[in-house]
Amino acid sequence: MQMTVQSKRVQMTNEVRQAVLAQLDKGTFYGGEQAFQFERELGAYLGVRHVLTVNSGTSALLVAAVALDIGPGAEVLIPANVYPSSAEVTAFLGATPVFCDIDESTATMTAETAARRLTPRTKALIVTHMYGHPADMDPLVEFARAHNLRTIEICAHALGAGYRGRKAGSLCDIGMLSLGSKNISVCTTGGAITTNSYELYQACAAVSRHGWPRKPIDESFFEKIQFNESPNAGMFPLERDSVRPGLNLQLDEIPCTIGRIHLRQLDEWNARRRQVAALYNRLIAESDLPVRTPVVQPWAEHAFLHYVVRVPRRDALMTHLVDAGIEALIHYPILIPEMRYYAQHFPTPSDAHPVASRVVKEILTLPIHPWITDREVQYVVDQMVKFYRAHPV
Ligand SMILES: Cc1ncc(COP(=O)(O)O)c(C=O)c1O
Repeated sequence: MQMTVQSKRVQMTNEVRQAVLAQLDKGTFYGGEQAFQFERELGAYLGVRHVLTVNSGTSALLVAAVALDIGPGAEVLIPANVYPSSAEVTAFLGATPVFCDIDESTATMTAETAARRLTPRTKALIVTHMYGHPADMDPLVEFARAHNLRTIEICAHALGAGYRGRKAGSLCDIGMLSLGSKNISVCTTGGAITTNSYELYQACAAVSRHGWPRKPIDESFFEKIQFNESPNAGMFPLERDSVRPGLNLQLDEIPCTIGRIHLRQLDEWNARRRQVAALYNRLIAESDLPVRTPVVQPWAEHAFLHYVVRVPRRDALMTHLVDAGIEALIHYPILIPEMRYYAQHFPTPSDAHPVASRVVKEILTLPIHPWITDREVQYVVDQMVKFYRAHPV
């Protein structure tokens, strides 16, 4: 029997519906208590001192890159196989993205692959924790320190992922979260910046809000406020004296409200993701399929935003699965240095990323989310069995 298996889902609950309506009634739409509390709760969860919400993960990267002074003349080390955001903000700021190879087992940049592309102009590295598996950060941070580089970690796939007992997002100068439709969802686009540096936090706050630093506040600030008193009631106190050029990239109150509710369920959802991954691993092994399942390093706690296998005859298998009602995807189908703009403006030697070039042709993302059923997982594996029976390798 044909089934439909979605790649991801956000389950809507009455708690979320009611919280959204309550927030509409409060009349504070941005810069208020929900953002303040969401940032505090994210900080406590991640074990990081400062969190700043912004309206997307890409905005978080732009703000972080400006705060770190990435601009003309600077080179930024970026893995070849990731989402284009890190390269696009680098290019927007007039700096040069320099594409690195990846470790075959985790699909992440390493200190070794980064070192191969280091030059005297290298100013920063932007590492991505691919699919929810953290990069091996300690050697990367060590390498960055030795060469005086600034570090950004992209945790778009990895909210809740662990690295040697610490959380992704707390591992280097600045962390980026994407909150659109990931391990949690704010039901619109959303993002955040995480850092232990007060100076960087304030620089990011100013870049994302008209150049205005934030005045320190605590919870009592909101207790004293009479909501609906004025259109500005409940707003963060900002020093409205611009210290640098800034934009308006803040995350509104309603998504922050939703994010707070989802954050409380994150660990449970990630535990279910890991359970689903274990089920795929077992069913694939029992079926003796020519499929390489994801590696989890002993020092990593995988957040499994994506369950990515490596397979022969990838494109034909993907067509078969899609025809069978399964939303199989590729994260990501084109290496950034091979995208038209980057190939033209930042030509990369073809031997600069041999592992990424090989792996990109084999990867396939199978559906995974906290609400997928064991029956749906079984159906996906059955369809892979059917495909390889018809097309043996
Ligand atoms: C690895 C990675 N980096 C960056 C981004 C960009 O984040 P956003 O879509 O929130 O701008 C995403 C979004 O999917 C991502 O997966």
